[in-house]
Amino acid sequence: MPVDTSSLPCQGQTVCVTGAGGFIASWIVKLLLEKGYSVKGTVRNPDCVNLMLCICADLLDYESLKEAIQGCDGVFHTASPVTDDPEQMLEPAVNGTKNVIMAAAEAKVRRVVFTSSIGTVYMDPNRSPDVVVDESCWSDLEFCKNTKVFN
Ligand SMILES: NC(=O)c1ccc[n+]([C@@H]2O[C@H](COP(=O)([O-])OP(=O)(O)OC[C@H]3O[C@@H](n4cnc5c(N)ncnc54)[C@H](OP(=O)(O)O)[C@@H]3O)[C@@H](O)[C@H]2O)c1
Repeated sequence: MPVDTSSLPCQGQTVCVTGAGGFIASWIVKLLLEKGYSVKGTVRNPDCVNLMLCICADLLDYESLKEAIQGCDGVFHTASPVTDDPEQMLEPAVNGTKNVIMAAAEAKVRRVVFTSSIGTVYMDPNRSPDVVVDESCWSDLEFCKNTKVFN
């Protein structure tokens, strides 16, 4: 049944979701639409998704990201290669994320939300499992390399 969102407080606000065909992103898109936001989703291959307004954007193509983010109030940056191969992962994860943040700053976006992974913070054999981890904690790189456990 169609949902009437006309009286919702988010009406008129637009949010960009990167990697809109992905697992996390498609749930974010669904929840945003239910709350009354307009959603611009970025995809690399528009044939793969069948939802809302899709814009072709690769994380390493700044101009395409700029176009997608322009006019948005917020950005959820979820697009990322999900792989244990550093060769494939690092360039989009580091420079792609920089591109998203710069395009968001240029477009004067009010809020950017970035999905990271618990894997970045909790894999440290020298830290007690009872410690609450936050953004000040990092996984031990040598431990991750030696155990080949990244996610
Ligand atoms: N799933 C989980 O339980 C979980 C838990 C914690 C953290 N995370 C993090 O959340 C993020 C998303 O995870 P996910 O499970 O939703 O992954 P996913 O389903 O594989 O979705 C990733 C999306 O990123 C897009 N993408 C990859 N490289 C790109 C590039 N160079 N330019 C533009 N788009 C690109 C993919 O597009 P294509 O369809 O074109 O390949 C895909 O739509 C990742 O950073 C992951 O580490 C996920």
